[in-house]
Amino acid sequence: MSKTLVAYFSAQGTTQKVAQKLAAVAGADLFEIVPAQPYTAADLNWNNSQSRSTLESKDRTSRPPVASHVDNMDDYSTVYVGFPIWWYREPTIVDSFLEDYNLDGKVVVPFATSGGSGLGKSAQDMAGSAPGATVLDGELLNGVGRSALEAFVARVSAEA
Ligand SMILES: Cc1cc2nc3c(=O)[nH]c(=O)nc-3n(C[C@H](O)[C@H](O)[C@H](O)COP(=O)(O)O)c2cc1C
Repeated sequence: MSKTLVAYFSAQGTTQKVAQKLAAVAGADLFEIVPAQPYTAADLNWNNSQSRSTLESKDRTSRPPVASHVDNMDDYSTVYVGFPIWWYREPTIVDSFLEDYNLDGKVVVPFATSGGSGLGKSAQDMAGSAPGATVLDGELLNGVGRSALEAFVARVSAEA
């Protein structure tokens, strides 16, 4: 019950790279949140009010299914959850992931990459999808190097 997991969703590869570096710094296992239905370029078109990502982001109750599963979630006490910011929040597939597990007593730590926006209300949304977990304030990890990741992990260790 003392291991750390870095779980991430990444549609275009940016968050994946950060997640890999974070897992290395934190000495954590790495897990990819794989959408059951992959996001196409058309799905990710935020200029289209009818694109999949726009419709899912507008409907905060949407829960796109996840194809991958953490079989040993009980082993982890701290779960970092990374994602791209979509429309100022977490993609709702992140909530699908959280709701797939009983996270009682665990510490959930959001992190994100974006075009510049912060995490907005992501942590509040995620707390709603992880009742019983403590959801810490997240961090935006755009273009960060090793020392920033070490500082993030140290902050989380102090709070977890
Ligand atoms: C559908 C969609 C919505 C986005 N909304 C925002 C936004 O509100 N604010 C922002 O700064 N960036 C936004 N972005 C940019 C992504 O957050 C950014 O490119 C991120 O690093 C992509 O991560 P990924 O490569 O792991 O998918 C959006 C991207 C997409 C595809």
